[in-house]
Amino acid sequence: MKSESSSRKVANATDSRTSTISRPARRDTAIDFLVIGSGAAGLNFALSASKYGKVLVITKKKISDSATEKAQGGIAAVLNKNDSFTSHIKDTLVAGHYKNKKSAVEYIIKKGPAVIAHLKKLGVKFDKDLRREGGHSARRISHVADNTGKAIEDALIKAVKKNPNTEIREYTKALKIIKKNGSAIGIIASDEQKNCTYEIRAKAMILATGGIGQKFKSTTNPEISTGDGIDMAKKIGTRLADMNYIQFHPTVLNAPGTPKFLLTEALRGEGAKIVNEKKERFINELLPRDTICKAMEKQIKQGHKIFLDFTHKKASYTKKAFPYVYKNLKKYDFDLTKDLIPIAPAQHYLCGGIAVDLQGRTSIPGLYAYGETARTGLHGANRLASNSLLEAIATTMETPNGIVRYLSSNPLEFRTK
Ligand code: FAD
Ligand code: SIN
Repeated sequence: MKSESSSRKVANATDSRTSTISRPARRDTAIDFLVIGSGAAGLNFALSASKYGKVLVITKKKISDSATEKAQGGIAAVLNKNDSFTSHIKDTLVAGHYKNKKSAVEYIIKKGPAVIAHLKKLGVKFDKDLRREGGHSARRISHVADNTGKAIEDALIKAVKKNPNTEIREYTKALKIIKKNGSAIGIIASDEQKNCTYEIRAKAMILATGGIGQKFKSTTNPEISTGDGIDMAKKIGTRLADMNYIQFHPTVLNAPGTPKFLLTEALRGEGAKIVNEKKERFINELLPRDTICKAMEKQIKQGHKIFLDFTHKKASYTKKAFPYVYKNLKKYDFDLTKDLIPIAPAQHYLCGGIAVDLQGRTSIPGLYAYGETARTGLHGANRLASNSLLEAIATTMETPNGIVRYLSSNPLEFRTK
């Protein structure tokens, strides 16, 4: 079968002339599960699904290029004897202004301890202490210093690479979903290195393409966060929900010539203050993010400059507890142990997305979504800190029965026309 753009220039070996011939530069593919995206949601789904069939993971850049890899604070889960599911559920609902879907909140929060156990089994070495972040009424953030996402991404990559039922194609970008008789049956992908497009047909297609930060002028998100999955799903009429619930993170580096580098909320959990140029505090730093951002905006409108202050902490503690933030700030000539760090809010997270049930089913048969691309209803109008990685892993830890049933009853459609 020919690919859609199968025409490319090749050198003729006999007379060294260059001619245009028509042939597929890359063969079309048919697979049981196609996973689009290699962050926490995509890779963890691939691991679970590999028990039921062959899995192909495609990712538009290097496998590790993801928001997951940038995550600093950690994962929220009830592990402390002074904590409870009731309390984590309540904090999630309060932060989300009760716009959350209660069944999703209960289901995901209760999976927290199993999520941490699963990641430990994959080799993530969490620190022994639990940290606190804004909106949490207990210490419940499992973390690996202040670079938790990298530890999780590395462990997932290692496991997926070892798995005989999974294949990874880097620099392969999903461009368009193919819909036939109302179902999603495949995609058009581009091989970004060979510069050609081809089709991938799958029994079940999983969108795990992350967030939309790059659509904003100022964001903490990496370059890959361009909302591709949501755009593609929308084009074939998939139901979206809560797309207006965009979260801004209050403590993002704001200095000329520097990137929008995140200063983890865990700093505030350990006593960082938010102050203006007069060193005046104007907000309780442990309130949910949207409340803090609003207070900061008010100050900015009044002409104040805003800073994060961690200078009251011992330098040796800061360097050991927050090595990633400390070292990165040093690159931009700021010393977290001595300087007030200039900050401003920046776009951070999409609470809405492709509407899914707790099995990840979208409104289109054959199409599933997980992680930041999906809207389960966990976050409501404003996400509680460190509930995102929890959601990405909790919803992909087992392949839902519904998908397994769909897989076995759905023949692999591999004809284009
Ligand atoms: P991602 O990890 O973003 O992965 C998306 C994948 O899809 C990437 O591999 C990308 O290349 C691929 N992709 C995208 N489009 C295409 C396409 N068209 N074709 C092929 N591949 C494609 N959350 C927490 O819970 N705790 C934290 O401490 C935390 N810290 C954060 C810090 C930062 C700086 C940021 C930006 C976010 C943080 N978050 C945190 C949020 C959390 O990291 C993300 O919501 C989560 O990692 C999303 O995982 P994901 O698998 O859905 O998407
Ligand atoms: C952070 O470390 O502040 C980010 C946590 C999150 O986005 O949940």
